[in-house]
Amino acid sequence: MGDLLVGIDRSGGAVGAQITAGLRDAVRTGRLAPGDRLPSSRTLAADLGVSRGMVVEAYEQLVAEGYLTSKHGSGTRVADIPERRAPGGPEEPRDANDISALPYDLKPGTSDMSAFPRAAWLAATRHALATVPHSRLSYGDPGGVPELRTALAAYLGRVRAAIASPDRIVVMGGVAQGIALLVQALQARGHTSIAVEDPSSAMQRDLLRSNGLPVVGAPVDCDGIDVAALARTGARAVLVTPAHQYPTGVVLSPERRAQLTAWARDVDGLIIEDDYDAEFRYDRDPVGCLQGLDPDRVAHLGSTSKALAPGMRLGWAVVPCAWLDQVRDLKRFADLGSAVINQFAFVSMLESGGYDRHLRAMRLRYRSRRDVVTDAFAEYLPEVEVNGIRAGLHLYVELPYGCREEEVVKAAAERGVRVEPVAPMREPGFEAPPALVLGYASLSEDRIRVAVRLLAEACRSVM
Ligand SMILES: Cc1ncc(COP(=O)(O)O)c(C=O)c1O
Repeated sequence: MGDLLVGIDRSGGAVGAQITAGLRDAVRTGRLAPGDRLPSSRTLAADLGVSRGMVVEAYEQLVAEGYLTSKHGSGTRVADIPERRAPGGPEEPRDANDISALPYDLKPGTSDMSAFPRAAWLAATRHALATVPHSRLSYGDPGGVPELRTALAAYLGRVRAAIASPDRIVVMGGVAQGIALLVQALQARGHTSIAVEDPSSAMQRDLLRSNGLPVVGAPVDCDGIDVAALARTGARAVLVTPAHQYPTGVVLSPERRAQLTAWARDVDGLIIEDDYDAEFRYDRDPVGCLQGLDPDRVAHLGSTSKALAPGMRLGWAVVPCAWLDQVRDLKRFADLGSAVINQFAFVSMLESGGYDRHLRAMRLRYRSRRDVVTDAFAEYLPEVEVNGIRAGLHLYVELPYGCREEEVVKAAAERGVRVEPVAPMREPGFEAPPALVLGYASLSEDRIRVAVRLLAEACRSVM
């Protein structure tokens, strides 16, 4: 019974945590029904080849959480939980006035949070707490704990072809903090504007502006940012998304990569590379990061927001040497460094292979959702052009000419579907066909099909 209920991965972090998580999962998913009697701790420990104390501790934890009951004489049983909760997490609260409560939420910019690797993160955190000496819980290096910078340098070199020695890495509270601190560094060096791709993330442009730097747009075509237009803006710094342009999904072409780094050298400038969803490639070769081409001109930013969850607030910057001291100082002044226990837990996940395993599983899941969403468009709305499908967690859907974005968004919301218009992602004055951005990461395949059918109805109602 034990082996069927609880699998143990001896290379996957603390075994006790795995037993607890495995049993909890068995109750949540119904493999263990209310009233079922669990094997004695001695029997389960023998089945799993672990100490009895470990099983006793797991049972006690789950009794404390309300999943199990323990009565003298009748052993340990599954508690009678009135409403079974979804696997992987507690029930979601619902707020009828919240637009994100629309039943078919295709808002881009998030991961499938129901797939957060709770057991692996718990095991990694337990491992960190069991092994990190007291002294390491103090304020650490503001650039991040050395163990994480070493693990990240290896990971980014292997997966993104980055040129990333540990001393060039600064651990950040997400890409957003990397952008904010680099903007401060630019201002301190006399920059008076920064260029962005047009269209680009509205959140990012707000972030740049709120840090006091005027933003100028440079258009994106099918090869990525137009470098000649960028040069005409007069800016000497630019924020780009080369691996999968946000929101169009275009990859920056090799010619444009060369032009962009040449531009940065010519103007003695800085390229900020936002590698926000680079882990997710489906049917094209991974594109190495821009930083690997010119590590002295490109500051590379990434995070765990898409791979794990946005709320992790854990990311990194690989900073050109000439900017390093300044960025490390700015990070120190911002918050004295990121939370160390999370950093050590992430080291454990990277080193155990748990992060790679999770990414492999998520790639499969997102790829099949991507297939479902593109098939659904072909079936229900064949007249629209769907772009950016070979990577990432969102699509860029060009609407038929004459369709008004805001009318489609409204008609979709009336049918319970939330989508984002592209207009707020453009600088005023940039003309382009109407389009929507759709995130498909967090809906099940069945719900994606229904959402696209309803969106098709919405489009037809306003065409
Ligand atoms: C293009 C882009 N870059 C960066 C971010 C924010 O990243 P982080 O959560 O790492 O701060 C987002 C968030 O959705 C995004 O869409």
